[in-house]
Amino acid sequence: MRRSHPAAIGTAAGVGPDNGETRPRQHVLDLDDFLTGEIASVLENTHAMKEVLKRDIKKVPTLRGRVVVTLFYEASTRTRISFEEAGKVLSADVINMSASGSSVEKGESLLNTGLTLQAMGVDILVIRHPHAGAPNFLARHLPRVSVINAGDGLHAHPTQALLDLFTVQEKLGCLAGLKVVIVGDVLHSRVARSAMWGFAKMGANVTLCGPGTLLPADLLRPQGRLPADHCLASVKVDTNLDRAIQGADVVMALRLQSERQNGGFLPSIREYIRRWQVTESRLTSAKPNALVMHPGPMNEGIEISSGLAHGGSSVIEEQVTNGVAVRMALLYQVSVSHGIIDTPIARR
Ligand code: CP
Repeated sequence: MRRSHPAAIGTAAGVGPDNGETRPRQHVLDLDDFLTGEIASVLENTHAMKEVLKRDIKKVPTLRGRVVVTLFYEASTRTRISFEEAGKVLSADVINMSASGSSVEKGESLLNTGLTLQAMGVDILVIRHPHAGAPNFLARHLPRVSVINAGDGLHAHPTQALLDLFTVQEKLGCLAGLKVVIVGDVLHSRVARSAMWGFAKMGANVTLCGPGTLLPADLLRPQGRLPADHCLASVKVDTNLDRAIQGADVVMALRLQSERQNGGFLPSIREYIRRWQVTESRLTSAKPNALVMHPGPMNEGIEISSGLAHGGSSVIEEQVTNGVAVRMALLYQVSVSHGIIDTPIARR
């Protein structure tokens, strides 16, 4: 028996106290409507899922008989493969669908594609789409399906943010009070948007850094215009990386989206590298145990030096590893919340 939860889609919950409670959740669309207790619960369940992934035989029956479709309208390596692996380790039947080769090529609408998958009995739909809001649209129209956003336009990439939070918490032991610098093409980055919500909600101090042309105009306004108890009121913006990186616990470089390089956003690539590339010498201003992160795919030698990307401070490969466990935790949690399964994890 499926249950429907009015709070499943929700609205931005950035204002006011959040007492750390959790609540049922049908969809994962962004982190702006997550309670801190929900984020903590995902991180806790991720530890349990990592334990499964360390076993000789990586298989549990949690989602046996359930159907997960990954519907990708954009290219992906990490997100799509990790969702597929996560579903298979949990024994779900995982079907991968891309726009290319499907009836989308014959002009089928997003809504009719979603309704078709719902009619086939799909339980969880993982969608990546070039248009912001596409997962929210499907979530409003598919009452019998859990929708998970795997990246929509410039809007959000919540599962990436959750794996980033998990990686930092696992390596540094906490999130609250950390200084997290996110540097690069923030304007076009759905990763940055979701990471900003996630880190801020968990009490980290976020600084967004990059050329003024690649920072969203609404973030360049004085943060004082936000209510003091808004969780994004603490987010800082700085165009000077040498200043921003001082004392950082985490430095996350973002992909410079090559399609922007001729769009008037940058004086030149050489200038960008000189001022905003994350390098070994710049990292010396951060804390001694600072973590270097990147959501991938990387342009080595542009937003991050190759030495740093593959050096001792880098947790970039651990981010990828943790992506499988985080997505297992999310598949599990929406399945329990939405009544796709009803058995506690300890008994499955
Ligand atoms: N970080 C990320 O979303 O990578 P993919 O595009 O390879 O999925």
